Amino acid sequence: MNNPIPFSEYQNLSDEDCQARILAAKAKLGKRLVILGHHYQRSDVFKHADFSGDSLKLSRSAANSEADYIVFCGVHFMAEVADILSRPEQVSILPDLAAGCSMADMATLARVERAWRELKTVLDPDATITPVTYINSAADLKAFCGEHGGIVCTSSNATKILEWSFARREKVLFFPDQHLGRWSGYKMGIPLEDMVLWDWDQPLGGLTPEQVRKAKIILWKGLCSVHQMFQPANIHRFRQEHPDGLVISHPECSFEVCRLSDYVGSTEYIIRTIAAAKPGTHWLVGTELNLVQRLAEQFKGEGKTVQFMASTVCMCSTMARIDPQHLAWCLENLVAGHVVNRIKVPAHEAEQARVALQRMLDAS
Ligand code: 13P
Ligand code: SF4
Repeated sequence: MNNPIPFSEYQNLSDEDCQARILAAKAKLGKRLVILGHHYQRSDVFKHADFSGDSLKLSRSAANSEADYIVFCGVHFMAEVADILSRPEQVSILPDLAAGCSMADMATLARVERAWRELKTVLDPDATITPVTYINSAADLKAFCGEHGGIVCTSSNATKILEWSFARREKVLFFPDQHLGRWSGYKMGIPLEDMVLWDWDQPLGGLTPEQVRKAKIILWKGLCSVHQMFQPANIHRFRQEHPDGLVISHPECSFEVCRLSDYVGSTEYIIRTIAAAKPGTHWLVGTELNLVQRLAEQFKGEGKTVQFMASTVCMCSTMARIDPQHLAWCLENLVAGHVVNRIKVPAHEAEQARVALQRMLDAS
C-alpha cells in the first residue's frame, strides 16, 4: 500500500479548498467516521463536528460511538479519553498532535507520585486521601487515580465527584486545576482555610505536616492561563454599565471571578443557561473567545447580547492548532486507507484509567 499523504501537501491550501475537501472526505467515509468537536474549537472546524459538547458530554459521545474512526477536534487528553472509552478496534485521532492543554501539563505522573510519597511521611494516603483528577490530565494520571481508589471529574460534575470521594475517605488530593477544586469545595461548604495549595516545587508541597493533617482538600497549584485573564475589574465595570446584566463564568476562572459571577459552570452549562434566558438580557461571559463569539452570534436574533469578559484576546491557542488544513489532511488519509495521528493509550494504563473514568460516569 502507498504511503500516507504528507501534511506538507496541505499546509498551503486555502481554507475554502479545505472546506470542500473535508466535506467530500466526510461523505466518502460516511458512518465509519465521527467527528467530535469541543466548544472552544475554531468555527471553521467546529462546523464539521457531528457531536459537540463539554468534556463530559464528549466522553459519553466517544463511549457510545459506533464509528471506526473518532476524529477529535479538541486537545490531546480528550482524544486519549475517546481511545480509552471506545472499543479496541476503534481508532481515535487528533488532527494536530501539538494540540495539548497547558494546564494538563502542570501535573505529571512523576510529580504526583512524588507528592503521594511525601504525603506518606505524614499520613497513610491510601487510607485517607481520594486522588481526584480533572479530566484535563494525561491518561497516566487517570490510571494513578484508578489504582489508588480515585476518580476523574469534569467541570460539570466536580461537586458530585467530591461528594463521592468524601463518602469514602476523609481528604481529597485534587489535580491539576486549583480553581475548579477550590470552587467546587467552596460550593460544598468546605471553608477556604481547609483547602491548602500544593506547590510541586517545594518539599511537602510547601506545607507543614500540621497543615496536611488539618486539610480537607489539597489543591494542586495548576491553572488554565486562558481563564486567568478574566479579572474582577471586568465584572465591576460591566455591572456599572449594565446594572441588570448577568455574569456567567467557567469554574477554571479565579475564585474571585467565580464568587462575583451570577452563574458558574461548564461550557455546556454556559450555553444552556444563556439559551434559556429571556430575550433582551445582557450577558458577560468568562470563558474562551471562540465559544463566546459563537454565543454572541447565535443569540443576537433573540435580542440577547453576549459580551466577552476580557479586554484582550483569550483563546485556547493549543486547541486552535486544529485547523481546516489538519482536518482535511487526516480525513483524506483515512479515505486513502491511512491512519495518521492515532492516539493510543498503552493497554495497562488504559485499563486503570478506564476504572477511574467509569467511576465518574457511574457517579454523575
Ligand atoms: P468543559 O468540560 O467545561 O467544556 O471544559 C473543558 C476545558 O478545557 C475548559 O478549559
Ligand atoms: Fe486546557 Fe485552558 Fe485550553 Fe481548557 S482552555 S484546554 S484548560 S489550556
